[in-house]
Amino acid sequence: MKLMAIIGSPRRGGNTETLVDKVIEGYLSKTPAEVEKIFVTEKKIGYCTGCLSCTFPPPGTKKCVIKDDMADIIVQLSSADAFIFGTPNHMRTVSAPLLIFLSRMLPIMQFLPDKDAEGRIIGGGFTSALKDKKAAMVISQGDPIFSSSLVHAVLERNFIDFGLRRVGDVISSGNMLPGDAAKKQADLEKAFQLGAALYTMAGMW
Ligand SMILES: Cc1cc2nc3c(=O)[nH]c(=O)nc-3n(C[C@H](O)[C@H](O)[C@H](O)COP(=O)(O)O)c2cc1C
Repeated sequence: MKLMAIIGSPRRGGNTETLVDKVIEGYLSKTPAEVEKIFVTEKKIGYCTGCLSCTFPPPGTKKCVIKDDMADIIVQLSSADAFIFGTPNHMRTVSAPLLIFLSRMLPIMQFLPDKDAEGRIIGGGFTSALKDKKAAMVISQGDPIFSSSLVHAVLERNFIDFGLRRVGDVISSGNMLPGDAAKKQADLEKAFQLGAALYTMAGMW
């Protein structure tokens, strides 16, 4: 088994990583696994230029034209069995580096066109190399009261688009300073249970 954790926080040892580590611990309590943690801010990942050559025109190249760390990461993602996406709430959405990462995941998807008799594209759908793999989300926010609806929606919708089955999420509040999440026993326990569920449960779309 291979578990990949994508961490969108620029803070190593921060709240997001603390919670993600607990999810990993829960997963490993159920099965031995190879674990790959990716700090997106420590990788060379340029922003998507929107050329769409990876996905369009059909069948697409399945490769991005940008030469950076993302090419290897796409290969790693494709070979993983389960995923954790962790992010702090930054300006009420996912962190900017994680949003760049998500957009650079586009080669994972391929457009399958429907054509008319003359070969004109009249519609179509997408297929994903991650289809039916399982994923969990981790969000850490500074506000004491839930304010991460947009963060959650962005991740949830992207899970659906990438064909990932969402097993569940941990949203931890009141974590303004590094070290705050480490004091939230209930959230840490929930994160551990989420990790276990990531292995044992089927997940949903
Ligand atoms: C640029 C920036 C924007 C933030 N915006 C929000 C916000 O809109 N809502 C919120 O609750 N917390 C916000 N926070 C606080 C972080 O979500 C919080 O400190 C989080 O626990 C950081 O996780 P980390 O330690 O993994 O980086 C923001 C923090 C930063 C640095």
